[in-house]
Amino acid sequence: MKVIVCENYDEMSKRAAKIIAAQVTIKSDSVLGFATGSTPIGLYSELGRMYSEEEVDFSEVTTFNLDEYYPIKKSNEQSYDYFMRKNLFSKINVKDENIHLPNGEAEDPQKECEFYEKMIEKSGGIDLQVLGIGRNGHIGFNEPNSVLVPSTHLTKLTENTIKANSRFFDSFDDVPKQALTMGISTILNAKKIIILASGANKRKAVAELINGEINPKNPATMLKTHHDVTLFCDKEAFAGAKLGIDIGGTAIKFAVINNNEVVYKDSIKTEDTEEKIISSITEKVISLKKDYEITTVGIGTPGRIKEGKVTATNIPFKNTALQDIISEKTGLYVVVDNDANCAALGEIEFGSTKDCENIVLVTIGTGVGGGIIMNRQIARSNNNMGEIGHFVIQAKNGRICPCGQKGCWEQYCSMTALLKDALKAAKKDKESILYNNIEDGSLTGEAFFDAVQKGCPVAQKVFDDYIRYLAMGINSLVNIFGPDAIVLAGGVTKQGEKLLEPLKKLIVGDLRLEISTLQNDAGALGAAML
Ligand code: GLP
Repeated sequence: MKVIVCENYDEMSKRAAKIIAAQVTIKSDSVLGFATGSTPIGLYSELGRMYSEEEVDFSEVTTFNLDEYYPIKKSNEQSYDYFMRKNLFSKINVKDENIHLPNGEAEDPQKECEFYEKMIEKSGGIDLQVLGIGRNGHIGFNEPNSVLVPSTHLTKLTENTIKANSRFFDSFDDVPKQALTMGISTILNAKKIIILASGANKRKAVAELINGEINPKNPATMLKTHHDVTLFCDKEAFAGAKLGIDIGGTAIKFAVINNNEVVYKDSIKTEDTEEKIISSITEKVISLKKDYEITTVGIGTPGRIKEGKVTATNIPFKNTALQDIISEKTGLYVVVDNDANCAALGEIEFGSTKDCENIVLVTIGTGVGGGIIMNRQIARSNNNMGEIGHFVIQAKNGRICPCGQKGCWEQYCSMTALLKDALKAAKKDKESILYNNIEDGSLTGEAFFDAVQKGCPVAQKVFDDYIRYLAMGINSLVNIFGPDAIVLAGGVTKQGEKLLEPLKKLIVGDLRLEISTLQNDAGALGAAML
């Protein structure tokens, strides 16, 4: 199931409307399944707007509604027939003869149910079904039960539902106590399903839908057996803590975010086998689940990720189905993404660039990596996007890179490259402060910057070249992505203004260039927001 969390009800309605419009554009004679309840009203008014502005044409569409009270007159303002005509059918050009709802006036409800099923079958089946969700997890009027009825049937409403729906009637007693509803298989036979949930009173139902076991006591969880379900909900309905995990070569970081605030941070050692890493993460997640109402888990990991499976070089993951394994072991909804992508997301959600729409994060460490955020979302492709350390800045006699190219940015701007250059230069001038700072044949970052600080011309020359290379890459990133800001992270950025000041002089245009305030925390924070 795909989960799309929207800022508010309005955004949720508009995004869902786009899916329906796309469906009708792709297949003009689509068979659409519609729902009632207050939740889809915004969606229906958006579809009405789209039709009036000629963005979509429903003239060939056929519709089937999920359910209807029984018995009820179509003229009753509380009937779903009345509701649909008022909120949708009167606003779009769907033909009257193509509209179908279970008939609440039918004399023989059993016959009506059989007829309804046959009509759906005759239409070729539902292409796209819209659902709401009851507070107890009911869909249509399939109420929680130990056994769910597969096809369209007459059902008794639970007291819970009668109470919830009595807000539309004069009193509890006026609510019909029965309904005709598509069965669970009728719904699951739809080729595509979108389910909408809005508001805090749907929080429990949504949390169970995302994380609960498949259980007829919560009919919505049956949707987990369908291959094409998208849940659109607003932030209110989705609330609950989010856990972010950042797997690194030496440590695994954890962050819990509740209501946009970081409420917990910790890290554990990265074990040396796949099995041990997975069991240490599982153990931690299960213990955090007890303390926080965790709804989702995001995991950032190095390496390539395809459909939740990870293959990395520094971590013992080989086509490891991390997403499914952690989800299975913890019973939570888990998403996995590349660690640099997560860090970039962390920066735009919680860092100094949270006011931006588009940023590029450049992480400078053993290599040069990063993540690209466009319109506040991770920019993705089906390929290895965002390998920003591997564009060439030196065409002639470029340094060899393990990626197969020569002259990659990483070969000039990683911390490793800087220290390698520094060592080489120091060895050429044995009188220099830099040479003096060599210990056991190597230089540390501190030793290098100590020499710069003390005015060593050899170290300064290396640093000047480094800044030049760094600026080249940053200027290219600006030209390609046009970000609102570029954020730099990693050990070298500890130099703060000493790094930024000379760098800014070489940057073309008036780029907002910043040093990450989150640094190593960005990954876990971003993972939580996946
Ligand atoms: C009714 C309908 C359902 C709907 C549910 C939630 O009982 N039969 O299809 O999903 O209510 O309604 P609302 O969106 O008003 O919360």
